[in-house]
Amino acid sequence: MPVVTTHKDGDVLVVVSDNPPVNALGAAVRQGLAEAMKTAASDDSVKAVVIVGHGRTFFAGADITEFGKPPVEPGLPEVVDLIEASAKPVVAAIHGTALGGGLEVALGCHYRVAVPSAKLGLPEVKLGLLPGAGGTQRLPRVIGVEAALPMIVSGDPISAKTAEAAGLIDRIVGEGSLEPDAIAFAREVASRSDHPVSSKRTDKISGTDPGVFDRFRQENARRLKGFEAPEACIQAVKAAVDLPFAEGLNKERELFMKLVSGTQSAALRHNFFAERAATKIDGIAADIQLIPIKKVGILGAGTMGGGIGMNFLSAGIEVVMVEREQAPLDRGVGVIRKNYENTAKRGRLTPDQVEGAMAKLKPTLSYDDLADCDLVIEAVFENMDVKKEVFGRLDTIVKPGAILASNTSYLNIDQIAAMTRRPESVIGLHFFSPANVMRLLEIVRGARTGGAVLATCMALAKKIGKIAVVAGVCDGFIGNRMLTPRQREANKLILQGAPFDRVDQVLLDFGFPMGPFQMADLAGLDLGWNKETSKGASIRDLLCERDRRGQKNGRGFYDYDEKRNRTPSPEVQQIIREFAAESGEDQREIGDQEILERLLYPMVNEGALILEEHMAQRASDIDVVWLNGYGWPAWTGGPMFWADTVGLGKVVEGLEKNAPHMDKAFRMSALLKSKAAEGGRFNT
Ligand code: CAA
Ligand code: NAI
Repeated sequence: MPVVTTHKDGDVLVVVSDNPPVNALGAAVRQGLAEAMKTAASDDSVKAVVIVGHGRTFFAGADITEFGKPPVEPGLPEVVDLIEASAKPVVAAIHGTALGGGLEVALGCHYRVAVPSAKLGLPEVKLGLLPGAGGTQRLPRVIGVEAALPMIVSGDPISAKTAEAAGLIDRIVGEGSLEPDAIAFAREVASRSDHPVSSKRTDKISGTDPGVFDRFRQENARRLKGFEAPEACIQAVKAAVDLPFAEGLNKERELFMKLVSGTQSAALRHNFFAERAATKIDGIAADIQLIPIKKVGILGAGTMGGGIGMNFLSAGIEVVMVEREQAPLDRGVGVIRKNYENTAKRGRLTPDQVEGAMAKLKPTLSYDDLADCDLVIEAVFENMDVKKEVFGRLDTIVKPGAILASNTSYLNIDQIAAMTRRPESVIGLHFFSPANVMRLLEIVRGARTGGAVLATCMALAKKIGKIAVVAGVCDGFIGNRMLTPRQREANKLILQGAPFDRVDQVLLDFGFPMGPFQMADLAGLDLGWNKETSKGASIRDLLCERDRRGQKNGRGFYDYDEKRNRTPSPEVQQIIREFAAESGEDQREIGDQEILERLLYPMVNEGALILEEHMAQRASDIDVVWLNGYGWPAWTGGPMFWADTVGLGKVVEGLEKNAPHMDKAFRMSALLKSKAAEGGRFNT
C-alpha cells in the first residue's frame, strides 16, 4: 500500500498521507505528494485539492532519520514549491501536529484549516536546525515577524486558536469532521479568482521595525546562550524582511546546510532519539499487562514528598500523604498549596484547577490509609534503618500486588526489598529536586523487581510528564554515581592550586548552569555535617566550623550579598592554602584544559564502568540522565556522546596523563580502554 493515496470527492482531489507513527515526510511521502500534485494539475475535473494525514497526525516533520544520509529526490523544498505553484487551490487539513516540514508543507498550501486540538510549530531549532523548506521565509510573510520570531526561535508549538488569531489558520473546523469540512472549505474557495500565495505576500512584513531582531536577541540572550541554531534562525527571518523571497530562500538553505553538518545538531538529534530509546526496557515484552494506578501513597511530606505528590495530583491521580507528626504534614500540604497558588497567580492554572488538585490530596498520620493504594512512594529520611523499618511496615498494610517504591538517592533497593514478602513489587523511583519541576526520573530496577512493575512505572512516568531512565542497583545509580568522581577531582584540584572559582568558571564556560562549589553553596555545606563530631578533616568541616554554611547564611565558598551576587571569599582561599600545606599537597598553577579534563573525563570513565556493570541499558541513557537531571549542556549531547566527539582515545590519554595528580580512588574502565584502542564509540 503506498503511503500517499488520492481519491476524488466530486471536484476535490483528496490527498491522504498515512505514514505511521507520525506521518514523517520521508522520501516515499515526498514522492507521493509530488505525484499527487501532478495528478491534480493534469485532471481538468479537479477544481481544488485537500491534503490530509491519516492516523495520529498531520505531518510531524521531516524524517529525522534521513538527516546525514544521501538526499533522495524530491527534496522537501521542491515539494513545497510544487504545492504552492498549483493553479488549483490547495487546502491543508490539519489534526494532531503540523510540525517542522509539516508546517512548511501547510505554508506552501494556499489555505489551512485545523481542528481545535491541533498544534502547529517549527521545532527544528530544538534539533539544532532551522526550518529548511522555506519556513523561515514563508511564516513571517503569513503572520509577521513579531509572531514568527518566537515560534521559529523557541520551537514551541502554538494552538489552533492562537494560529487562527495570528492568521496562520483560515478556519477552525469540527474535531470529528476534519476531512468533510476541509473538502467543503476547498469547494467554497475554488471559485475565487485568486488564492493567497505565502511566498508572494508582503503585507505582514512591509514596515517591519529593523530593531526587532536585536531586541529579540537581548531579551532571550540567557535562554539561547551556547546554542548556534537560534542565531541562524534570527538571521534567516531577517533575510525574509531584507531580501526578495528567492534570495531569502538561498540564505535559509546556506544556514541550514551549515547547521545540519555541525556537531551541535548531531548532538541535539542524538538527544531526541536517546530520550525515546530510554523508554524501551530490555527483556520486557512490549505488550506486558500493566498494573492500573489510580491511587498513590506518599510517605514523608518533606522537600521531596510534596513535589512528588504534586506530579500525581496534577495528572488527576488521587494522593494519600502520610507523615509522622501533624506539624510536618501541615507544612508539606501548605507548600503544595502555595506552589499551586503561585502557578495560578502566573495565569497557568485557574483557581478551580488549584482546588481540584488539592481536593484529590488526603493528608493523614495513619499508615492504614495507604492500604488501598496501587503505588506507595517512600520519601522519608535517607537512612537505611529507617527505610527498612518503613518497608517492613508497608508490606503488612498495603494491599497485595501494589507497588512499593523508594525515592532513595543512594541506598540499596535490594536490601530494602528484602524487608518485604514481595520483593518483585519493590522498585526505586528516584525523583530530582524540585520534584514537581525536574523532568528526570531514575527508575531503579532491583534484582527481583518484576517486569510488570517496571513497565508500569515507565508508563506512569510518561503520564506525569517525566523522562524516565532505567538504572541498576549501585551506589548513586547513574546520575549521583557519576557526580562523585567529579566532586572528588574538584576537591583535589583546589588543594593542588586551582582557585575554586576558576574550577566553577571552567564548567560554566563549558555550558553547565553551575559549578561544583556554587552547587555546594546552594545545597548547604552543613548538609550531613555535625558540630559536635566535626574534626576539621576536610575543607567543608573547616568552612562549617567558621559558620560558612553556604547561600543560606550568605557565606560559603563565596560571599553573597542580599541579591545573592557572589564573590569568591579570600578567607576561604586562605583556608584552602593552609589545609593543602598541612595535607602535604603541592600547589601549582593549573590550566583550564587540565581542570576540564580532570572534571569531565572521570565522569565519562564512571559512565563506562556503569555500562560495563550493566547498571545502565545503553550509553544514550546515561546522556539522558545528565542532560535532564544535572544541566549537562544539551548542545554537546551528554557525557557519553560528548566523549565520542572528543575521541575516546583522547579521553584515555588525558586520564593517563593526569593520573599522577588525580584522586587515588580513580579506577580506569576496561570498556573505555578497549573502545579507545579499537577507535570505537559509545553511541553507534
Ligand atoms: N522523524 C522520524 N521519526 C520520528 C519523528 C520524525 N520527525 N518524529 C517522531 N518520530 C518517531 C519517534 O522516534 C518514535 O519512534 P519509536 O516509537 O521508534 O521510538 C515515534 O516516532 C513516536 O514518537 P514519540 O514517542 O515522540 O510520540 P509522541 O506522540 O510522544 O510525540 C511528536 C509525537 C510530538 C510528533 C514528537 O514525536 C515530535 O516532537 N517529533 C519531532 C517533531 C520535529 O522535530 N519535527 C521537525 C523535524 S525537522 C524538519 O522538519 C526539518 C526541515 O524542515 C527540513
Ligand atoms: P526531608 O527531610 O525534607 O523529608 C523527609 C520527611 O519524612 C520529613 O518530613 C519527616 O517528618 C518524614 N518522615 C521521616 N520518617 C517518617 C516515617 N517513618 N513516616 C512518615 N514520615 C516520615 O527529606 P527529603 O529531602 O525530602 O528526602 C527524602 C528522601 O528523598 C531521601 O531518601 C533523600 O535521599 C531522597 N532524595 C532527596 C533529594 C533532595 O534533593 N532533597 C533528591 C532526590 C532524592
